[in-house]
Amino acid sequence: MRSLIDIKDLTTDEIESLIAVAEDIIAHPDVYAHKCDGKKLATLFFEPSTRTRLSFEAAMYELGGHVIGFSSAQNSSTAKGESVSDTVRTVSCYADIIAMRHPKEGAPLVASRRASVPIINAGDGGHNHPTQTLADLLTIHREKGGFENLTIGLCGDLKFGRTVHSLMTAMSRYAGTRFVLISPEELCIPEYIKSEVLDPQGIPYTECRELEPVMHELDILYMTRVQRERFFNEADYVRLKDTYILTEEKLRTARENLCIMHPLPRVNEISVSVDDDPRACYFKQVLYGKYIRMALILKLLGEANV
Ligand code: NCD
Repeated sequence: MRSLIDIKDLTTDEIESLIAVAEDIIAHPDVYAHKCDGKKLATLFFEPSTRTRLSFEAAMYELGGHVIGFSSAQNSSTAKGESVSDTVRTVSCYADIIAMRHPKEGAPLVASRRASVPIINAGDGGHNHPTQTLADLLTIHREKGGFENLTIGLCGDLKFGRTVHSLMTAMSRYAGTRFVLISPEELCIPEYIKSEVLDPQGIPYTECRELEPVMHELDILYMTRVQRERFFNEADYVRLKDTYILTEEKLRTARENLCIMHPLPRVNEISVSVDDDPRACYFKQVLYGKYIRMALILKLLGEANV
């Protein structure tokens, strides 16, 4: 039985197969409409979510399956003091697959050791978010035609942004990847990403504080929200939250084929006027997230040859 806790749990070939299945679902949705008839997905969300939870639910419905779950810890027996292990052991009795989001790093890994059905990490604290990465990869594949020789600018909260950590881990596997890491000093990329992901693979990267001087170098600009819920003090959040606001003006020197991404939710980091720019890909990312989660559910349930 396979779970997806970290993007490294998938080989490069498996990621490519998932992308191929997602592309096939986009082209022939009818073929997949009953693949999960009679199956149940449980969404256990101990932290807020709009896209991840609802895209998992939409994905399961579009495969013909059913969904059960809760969308906040307060609505579950967690509020009575139940452990994650006991919760997933319980839910394993009701569902065929579980998507789980939790504020504690490592909680989905612990859950996967106690569950008798596959667990999908839908975000664990400031650590990882592998299914957002799959959505990001499908977006990059569709927009850029592949993964090689891309200069990727990641901008904003690189310390607590879990989507950043998983995306960097995934993209580090491809030849010619280069990262430009744009953040305030306090929100720079964690040391372990450098020592465990970048350095061993010899991935070139630069760190800088300002976006505009590096804009022209980028194939992809991945904007992120400052992760308010991970801050110890509100004053630091207020000081840092508007460090980078992407505007049309700042895109003046950007490449014509730049791909602007954001895992969403957006707070203030991208001006709404950028939404009409043909280079804005963040709402496409939302849609692709549903298709790639359909492919992932099929894979983990053994319903697809991926
Ligand atoms: C992200 C997350 O939850 O980490 N959102 C998402 O799942 N698309 C990004 C964020 O909350 O900033």
